[in-house]
Amino acid sequence: MAGTGIKRFLPPTLRDVARRAAVSPATASRVLNGSTTVSPAIRQRVEEAIRAVGYTPNRVATSLRRQSTQTVSLLVPDITNPFFADVARAAGRAFRRAGYSCLLCDTGGDVATEERDAVLCLHHRVDGMFVISNSGAPRFFEKLGRQGQAIVLVDRPASDELDSVRVDNADGTLQAVAHLAARGRRRLAIISGPLTLLPARERFDAFRAGLDLYNLRRIDPYLHATGFSVAHGYAAARHLLSLDPPPDAIFAGNNTLGIGAIRAIKERGCRIPDDVAVIMFDDVYLAESLEPPITVIAQPTGQIGTVAAQLLLGRFNEPNRPPKEILLKPQLVVRRST
Ligand code: RIB
Repeated sequence: MAGTGIKRFLPPTLRDVARRAAVSPATASRVLNGSTTVSPAIRQRVEEAIRAVGYTPNRVATSLRRQSTQTVSLLVPDITNPFFADVARAAGRAFRRAGYSCLLCDTGGDVATEERDAVLCLHHRVDGMFVISNSGAPRFFEKLGRQGQAIVLVDRPASDELDSVRVDNADGTLQAVAHLAARGRRRLAIISGPLTLLPARERFDAFRAGLDLYNLRRIDPYLHATGFSVAHGYAAARHLLSLDPPPDAIFAGNNTLGIGAIRAIKERGCRIPDDVAVIMFDDVYLAESLEPPITVIAQPTGQIGTVAAQLLLGRFNEPNRPPKEILLKPQLVVRRST
């Protein structure tokens, strides 16, 4: 049987490069560190050896030398939610372009898990944290920031001590109410996420303000705050449709609530939009694949991820820069559910 040499699993070392190039490890190290004391011929031999053995620098060693792991962590509440996945993907691309590796932590919507994961990332000496928090208050991350940890808060919560990137939830919600009013809807209901979370609270408050602004009746049983899951949206819509009279339009505070509400509306035999119009916050690939395709308030997820990543990267070079809050604009995307 052919030699049973075990395929090498450990990455090649600097010694392997030096042996291949027939130079000392010190000379190979000088080439790697860009020293000008090495002749062009030797430099070429070492560079050919690096390629031949497939050498890559030892990140642990370079981390110690540079006092940087070239790593950031992304903490997100639920990676299965397309909104968070799209934002995290855009951020990951920006970090990768800048030469950073990413540690992704799916914190499951739980504050204790989020804080445990954040501490774990500290132990891994991440250079920075990109955080979409499950907490309604920024205190934990503000404490880490005061200890010198570079952090950017995304989507929630707001902080006057840390960089943050959010969307103008009030503007987006008012666009939704104006659109439903323009479509002749008069009995508008909201299925909101938990009011402990800033985006949900901002949408809820703007929805009520929009009813007043467009002279639409504020019917308290139609103002429904719950969780941020599909099941919450389903249960809330079932309840709303059992009211007499039922709403003629439902604004869902995010994509999962909207998907759950649509299931309940169809189960009840109601037609969208004839019997009840539906609009939801967050444009996700599902929204245009459903029948009818769903009108949404689209968040610029690519821009959110990229801008937040750039803010965090910028802070590595300017640790004492005053915090910045960037507010992006969501966009009404009209389809056939309204
Ligand atoms: O779907 C997740 C929701 O939570 C999004 O609307 C986003 O804004 C976040 O708050």
